[in-house]
Amino acid sequence: MAKVFSGIQPTGIIHIGNYLGAIKNWVELQEEHDCLFSIVDLHSLTVPYDPKGLGDRIKDALATNIAAGLDPEKATIFVQSMVPEHTELTWLLTTITPVGNLERMTQYKEKSEKQGLLSGLLCYPILMAADILLYKADLVPVGEDQIQHLELTRVIARKFNSTFGEYFPEPQPKLSKATRVMALNDPTSKMSKSIPGSYIALTDDPEEIRTKVKRAVTASDVEGEVSPGVANLFTLLEAFAPKDVYNKFAKDLEDGNLKFSELKPALAEAIVEELTPIREKRQELLAKPKFLEEVVAAGADRARREAKQHMQEIKELMGLNLTF
Ligand code: TYM
Repeated sequence: MAKVFSGIQPTGIIHIGNYLGAIKNWVELQEEHDCLFSIVDLHSLTVPYDPKGLGDRIKDALATNIAAGLDPEKATIFVQSMVPEHTELTWLLTTITPVGNLERMTQYKEKSEKQGLLSGLLCYPILMAADILLYKADLVPVGEDQIQHLELTRVIARKFNSTFGEYFPEPQPKLSKATRVMALNDPTSKMSKSIPGSYIALTDDPEEIRTKVKRAVTASDVEGEVSPGVANLFTLLEAFAPKDVYNKFAKDLEDGNLKFSELKPALAEAIVEELTPIREKRQELLAKPKFLEEVVAAGADRARREAKQHMQEIKELMGLNLTF
């Protein structure tokens, strides 16, 4: 049984990119593996944020993920800051992580251009490596945008193992079929919570979903080629629609008969059908804060037991055994 770790930031918006790139995979993996899933609140502090709303955003991320199928009986679900070993291991790993590797991270370059050079943003991938390595995870189900961070996690694991003794496995990514869902309003960029108009949120109601799909950009620069926007709609159709519906439109595309006036409503209805029960379940869960509190308390408890044990072993390997 593989050990699986993954996380999601409590940003207030969980979109179908997160769902198809990560969460759906988590729901499958929890059936067969030892899984830990974390609401990574500490990562979310690296961009400007409103501290007053953070508690609600954490609660919301939790309710949405459970509504989408995460099961506290099958997986360990917890909030990152409730397990202080994550920050403790981060410090230890900073001491073996070259600054040059951090400066090369694409997300760091993009975000630091917008908001300045803060060390939290630079060290963000070390906190992510600590999340994964703390549990000695083998598999990390993420979307494509996290692959570079995961490569760095393996670099850090190798450096630790060669310096202090073989300890960490080298975690591998587990990608879904829709590993990079593109923005609906600009299909050359990734769907992202920070680009309004780019995403369909798991909380969008049927009318919002229909309007967003209707507006999705499909224009092509090159005559006769499948445009990035159309390719993205087919990625979504494959993920959400029944196989025969997907096959019909794939054939229409091949035969040059594709009609957006048919494709877009069919796609919108398939998305509505999958998201409606999630939206309703999320509402139910948000009305049960006691239940959500119990889930994370139990999850953090379980995670912490393992984290403590591993931290003790890691500290011993690093010479921090403190017995005189
Ligand atoms: P976050 O919160 O930005 O996104 C959560 C997950 O959603 C995936 N994702 C996408 N997949 C496909 N298409 C898209 N357009 C799309 N947008 C987002 C992300 O790849 C991610 O898997 N750094 C991470 C959180 C994290 C983490 C970890 C993940 C912290 N520690 C340890 C794995 C292991 C992040 O910001 O994800």
